[in-house]
Amino acid sequence: FTPPKEIGEGGAILAKDKLGNPIPASQILANPPGTRALVAGLAGEPTYLIVTDANTLDGRGIVDNCTHLGCTFPWNEMAEQFQCPCHGSRYDAEGSVVRGPANRPLKLVHVAVIDDAIWLSPWTEIDPRMGERPWWV
Ligand code: FES
Repeated sequence: FTPPKEIGEGGAILAKDKLGNPIPASQILANPPGTRALVAGLAGEPTYLIVTDANTLDGRGIVDNCTHLGCTFPWNEMAEQFQCPCHGSRYDAEGSVVRGPANRPLKLVHVAVIDDAIWLSPWTEIDPRMGERPWWV
């Protein structure tokens, strides 16, 4: 797998910062385990990348777009939840709903690090949290 400069196989794109510059993985991995770092992802969607206990990036990114009515939301480190400020939906660390009104889990994307570049690509197979086809495909 040798991706060209900006677009890789399977619609993969480089994770970018607010200014549109690619973010090196090492920059995000300088944060402590458990960090949820926001990047601009597929189609520009803000996407949380997760620093694992092994100081790697988790292979699943979580799209910062509430499945109720589309608000963005922060990660609450104390509660270990994503908490939507608009109508109070809450999601666990994996993006599954723990409190409505949202009734669908947060969208996932694939995250891969190659030579310090962060590649994001669409998640089209089974959603492992639900054990079924993802609602967004
Ligand atoms: Fe998030 Fe309504 S948009 S709870």
